[in-house]
Amino acid sequence: MADMDHVIIMDHPLIKHKISMLRDIHTGTNEFRTLVGEIAMLEAFEALRDLPMENREVETPLEKAMVPYISGKKMAIVPILRAGLGMVDGVLTLVPTAKVGHIGLYRDPKTHEPHEYYCKLPAPIEQRTILVVDPMLATGGSGVEAVDFIKQHGGKKIKFMCILAAPEGIKRLHEAHPDVQIYVGCVDRELNEDAYICPGLGDAGDRIFGTK
Ligand code: PRP
Ligand code: URA
Repeated sequence: MADMDHVIIMDHPLIKHKISMLRDIHTGTNEFRTLVGEIAMLEAFEALRDLPMENREVETPLEKAMVPYISGKKMAIVPILRAGLGMVDGVLTLVPTAKVGHIGLYRDPKTHEPHEYYCKLPAPIEQRTILVVDPMLATGGSGVEAVDFIKQHGGKKIKFMCILAAPEGIKRLHEAHPDVQIYVGCVDRELNEDAYICPGLGDAGDRIFGTK
């Protein structure tokens, strides 16, 4: 795993292979959606490495023992709608007790700035480890707005997990929220004039939901 302190890039053959399949224009909706879920699960395995633990007593068939469990309020998964929804089930496979919040944002096609249309977060948000998920970190506008909103509502321990990122998006999110650890499947070359990630995978929401 390549590590730049605030950004962890998943350097794993399974993740790389699956991301290459996502990029392929010939990958259809069903397969695309499955791949997004699988990549999210693999990335979450790493992103949740520091979940707090506590020892509790358990009785094994042989004796009593103090053994580690995940402690306290479990985490919250917060997908940025729509495309982030595609990553939720993959994370829930690992942490089925996690609560799920939602933040609805869409990018204005001309200004590329995000507009909020929905928000609901699980309480008590301040006690949870919060994993914001969105397949794409392009200009970073949506990521910054989502983290702004969560902090305004009391969220403290926030991680951001995406599949593809542009260098511009990582920079903007880190500058706005240096306390947020960023987990990325792959960092691509650049944004084009429409603020799409290149080489990228196209419009993640449209490919997950079969729209357009
Ligand atoms: C996409 C993507 C991110 C955002 C990234 O969503 O899922 O949320 O763009 O771009 P940014 O980093 O420049 O803000 P989009 O606005 O297309 O909405 P959708 O998920 O509903 O398709
Ligand atoms: N949103 C997407 O879905 N794809 C991009 O390349 C950029 C933003």
